[in-house]
Amino acid sequence: MIKARITGTGSYVPQKVLTNTDLEKFLDTSDEWIRARTGIAERHMAADDENTSDLATRAAERALAMAGVKPEDLDCIVVGTITGDYPWPATACIVQANLGAVNAGAFDVSAACSGFLYALSTAADRIQAGNAQKILVIGAEILTRICDWEDRNTCILFGDGAGAVVLEASEGERGVLSTHLHADGTQLKLLYQPGFSTKIVPSQEGIDRKEHFLKMQGNEVFKVAVRSLTEAGKEALSANQMTPADVSLFIPHQANLRILEATAKRLKLTDRQTYINVDRFGNTSGATIPLALDEANRAGRLKPGDILLFNAFGGGFTWASAMVRW
Ligand code: ACO
Repeated sequence: MIKARITGTGSYVPQKVLTNTDLEKFLDTSDEWIRARTGIAERHMAADDENTSDLATRAAERALAMAGVKPEDLDCIVVGTITGDYPWPATACIVQANLGAVNAGAFDVSAACSGFLYALSTAADRIQAGNAQKILVIGAEILTRICDWEDRNTCILFGDGAGAVVLEASEGERGVLSTHLHADGTQLKLLYQPGFSTKIVPSQEGIDRKEHFLKMQGNEVFKVAVRSLTEAGKEALSANQMTPADVSLFIPHQANLRILEATAKRLKLTDRQTYINVDRFGNTSGATIPLALDEANRAGRLKPGDILLFNAFGGGFTWASAMVRW
């Protein structure tokens, strides 16, 4: 049976680093509070002239180089993002043009922090169905541009970055073993960006009301996130008839340390099995998983045959899991 195997990984974060101490200078907060409640010490922030497609393209170039795949050999590019360059067209189309991937279809997937896993699932399905040979899957975000920098409840959490993987059709055991996708749109206002689109159209009053910024009820999100992430992890283990001990590396969506630790504990996964880099990047939404995967890969943490478990939760609500044999 044909599997979708990850043959290359890449990532990119903007140069500028915003530490908790930097935040203390203009926000009623403290390094101590942020570390204790979120585990975050610093995050990267895009320059004014940097766009989500720029971050995505750089991550993609690194993934393609590792895989030894030329842009013109790609069948498709899928970008998981909620902070694309434009409302439309898709950021994936801009990446396609930047790379010169002249034979690739291109589209975005909007599933907030679950965006990369939704994109991975879609791409793996296309490969397994025999409709594509090589697909570039990217998670890329510039969340700092939709944060209200006067709202200490939210802006301390988020950062900018991108991660990418090349998926290739492959015979054998290695590749994506399972993906599961879920959503519950009944609670969307716990985590969303009200404006500006068709429901709340652009207006000066809307800008004054800060409707163009991300809104979140953190406490409520926290509870649902831990429950959903745990269910997603258990679903992946059970679908593959595996136990926690079979997992070589758990790479969860890096929302905040308390969510990660609570989920890992409920899944009976140890610290050694769990990859954490939220301390250095904050929550980069759709980018967290491919960013962490690329770090782990380049650090030599992964060997052929390893079982990787991914899960994510985000606005929508959406949540998802994926299991991969490396
Ligand atoms: N610095 C100092 N004090 C703060 C800050 C801050 N940055 N932010 C909030 N506070 C204050 C609050 O005003 C409140 O003060 P009060 O008691 O005087 O009213 C107090 O700290 C406690 O606030 P809570 O909201 O109860 O704090 P909590 O422990 O829930 O932590 C947090 C807030 C970190 C946002 C937490 O709810 C959380 O992590 N939620 C999950 C949200 C998340 O990760 N969302 C990302 C998107 S979804 C995802 O990726 C899974």
